[in-house]
Amino acid sequence: MQAQQTMTSPNPSAEAVETVDAICAKHGAYKARVVDMTDIGGRKLTMSCPQCSQDARDAEAARKVAEAESQRRRRVADLNYAAGIPVRFQARSLENYRHELPGQKRALNVARRFVESWPEQREKGTSLIFTGGPGTGKTHLACAIGSALMQGHLASVCFGTVLELLRTVKDTYRKDSPRTETEAIADLLRFDLLILDEVGVQIGSEHEKNLLFEILNGRYQDCLPTILLSNLNAADLEAFLGQRVMDRYRECGAVVAFDWQSHRGTK
Ligand SMILES: Nc1ncnc2c1ncn2[C@@H]1O[C@H](COP(=O)(O)OP(=O)(O)O)[C@@H](O)[C@H]1O
Ligand SMILES: [Mg+2]
Ligand SMILES: [Zn+2]
Repeated sequence: MQAQQTMTSPNPSAEAVETVDAICAKHGAYKARVVDMTDIGGRKLTMSCPQCSQDARDAEAARKVAEAESQRRRRVADLNYAAGIPVRFQARSLENYRHELPGQKRALNVARRFVESWPEQREKGTSLIFTGGPGTGKTHLACAIGSALMQGHLASVCFGTVLELLRTVKDTYRKDSPRTETEAIADLLRFDLLILDEVGVQIGSEHEKNLLFEILNGRYQDCLPTILLSNLNAADLEAFLGQRVMDRYRECGAVVAFDWQSHRGTK
């Protein structure tokens, strides 16, 4: 009832807004609105320079943007620190990957599409397998994908050779280890993207091979993207991983053959 009255017949004191000539030290003369609050126990308020108020709002908005950007940069730096990409490959990017050969073009396109459609690939758990001889740029391209995803999508990435990652799991067997084997494996299932390099190198024991499968299977089950890099060709990699694992990874991704001469030799 009360509210309706206010709407149809405005409070008379609201009409009492007047303007006076005022001077802002910064912006000069302006028409200052005066709001009369005396009938509600206040006083007459002369409003400050509208340009000054606008400037203050702009400055606050700019400060928020800068703060968000610096937070984002810190987050990207933390992600990079955690990712463990070797220093040598930290500056490798999609942009500085040379693509004269048809195969290089194809590989670069797969990498670009993977990055550009990351939210969808992350959701589907798309995985990539790069196979081919040494020096063909598999590690370069995989690290470039990882860096682009951290920078552009704040994705968490973990890079490591199979032997390095197995070592982090085996380190938990020490008596003074703060983590258990289960926790170490679970940690590898937390990253949005795991890049596993040197898949196919001789693995010491049956137990280590089982650990590797536990990691690969775990990521597959949780629909988590993984990039496998191997110097073996697809057939030999399949012999190494077993058809079941290879099929699973094929099913939710692409196998890209890096079947050209070493980059080192062609420079
Ligand atoms: N197409 C390419 N464009 C630019 N640099 C490349 C390319 N292919 C390989 N390289 C460079 O050659 C070196 C060896 O490549 P790397 O990625 O380690 O090969 P792989 O992992 O296949 O053995 C790296 O320094 C890498 O940056
Ligand atoms: Mg490599
Ligand atoms: Zn002003």
